[in-house]
Amino acid sequence: MNVCIIGAGYVGLTTAAVLAKLGHTVHCVDENEQKIAALKRGDVPIYEPGLAELFTDHQSRLFFHHKQIHVEADVIFICVGTPADSKGKPDVSYVNRAIADLTPHINEKQTLVIKSTVPIGTNERIYNHFKNEGKHIRVVSNPEFLREGSAIFDSLYPDRIVIGLHHDDDRSLSVMQTLYAGIHAPYVVTSLSGAEMIKYAANAFLATKISFINEMARLCEAYGVDVVDVAKGIGLDGRIGPHFLQAGIGYGGSCFPKDVAALQQMAYEQNVRPYMLEATKTINDTQLNWYVQKIKRTLGHISKKRIAVLGIAFKPNTDDIRESPAVSLIKKLHAHGANVIAHDPKAVLHNVDVKQATTLEEAIAQADALIVATDWDEYKQLNWSYVKQMMSGNVVIDGRNCLPREAIMNAGLNYIGVGRG
Ligand code: UDX
Ligand code: UDX
Repeated sequence: MNVCIIGAGYVGLTTAAVLAKLGHTVHCVDENEQKIAALKRGDVPIYEPGLAELFTDHQSRLFFHHKQIHVEADVIFICVGTPADSKGKPDVSYVNRAIADLTPHINEKQTLVIKSTVPIGTNERIYNHFKNEGKHIRVVSNPEFLREGSAIFDSLYPDRIVIGLHHDDDRSLSVMQTLYAGIHAPYVVTSLSGAEMIKYAANAFLATKISFINEMARLCEAYGVDVVDVAKGIGLDGRIGPHFLQAGIGYGGSCFPKDVAALQQMAYEQNVRPYMLEATKTINDTQLNWYVQKIKRTLGHISKKRIAVLGIAFKPNTDDIRESPAVSLIKKLHAHGANVIAHDPKAVLHNVDVKQATTLEEAIAQADALIVATDWDEYKQLNWSYVKQMMSGNVVIDGRNCLPREAIMNAGLNYIGVGRG
């Protein structure tokens, strides 16, 4: 099939690479001229494992255009961002702009797929917009569930494919099944608004699991219990499951904070009090402060202390720092007068007056304390005796409960986790 993707961000580029791998011809459109120029040269503007390789392998089927929509496409995807505005409401102006750009060109043979996360009712509104323009366009809501850092894997081996359709649409399901032929996953077919709600509910539930275990971490700390044991003990119950129970400094990224806030706003608009979402957000918003208090208690005072913060990205295997708890931690420590030196294998600190080391050694050398803020594999695999030799102090603070506690203690270092007694 011939596919056009509007918005060449994380979601758009991953979708493009996967559809090209499945044998389709893909035209990516973006308003960012530099990004398109880089893609045309063969440079992938984001770090996502496996993405660059797929682009190279299937370059004969991948095309990049600045602004110009590929009007001959069978399927047109909208993958532009929907960031939260200052009140926490999703800003759909980029989606609206893409729809306005498409309106003169789109025809009734084409299928329009909205992948951007949009408020409930947006897809119906788009369908009605075209109807009012005299065009009967098949609009499909097809949310993504890909995690940055494993976006290609998640797209090739999804747990499910969610397809939202207008009630009079009897064709788009087979179009989507043809498009995704080769990907084996159960289909969940629902209304346009149903698909939108599934996306928000999935992210809100995962965020709630994290906030739940973070609250348990605070309780565990108060009662001298290890939250890692608790997560294991409850996670083995098949009804609960082991995933998303890693306590730490809170969730970040471009999705969870934005989507929980958006669903909350949508609830208020309908006079529904979202008690659960409020709690999820409150726990996350206060988790870092709770942890900084703990760091202060551990280190005595932190002013002038040299603190190595390992991790800048909001999670491992990405260079994305949007809503990164690691960046918030760095800023807080800096504001408390600490002499912070940060490190990340891929992500770069912006607009913060904190030094970023180019090597791990440079970050760790002479540090009074070492904090792991992002659970990159290379931090988990550090040689702790060597770390001990390089540091001035002896405190290792594991903000992600990801480090080998015994090995660290055996190296003569003091290990401080999150809710680990
Ligand atoms: C995606 C989804 O689309 C968003 O709704 C979801 O909640 C998170 O994932 P993402 O791919 O992370 O967003 O966004 P981003 O990396 O910011 O990329 C968006 C791209 O769209 C950018 O390259 C931007 O230049 C482009 N864009 C934006 C356009 O081409 N036109 C516009 O009008 C706006
Ligand atoms: C998320 C969803 O997982 C994905 O399905 C959706 O489509 C987009 O949003 P992403 O934001 O890329 O993906 O990353 P994810 O792996 O979900 O992690 C989000 C945040 O939660 C990170 O800051 C991570 O460190 C944190 N997290 C995750 C925890 O603190 N504990 C956990 O157990 C899991």
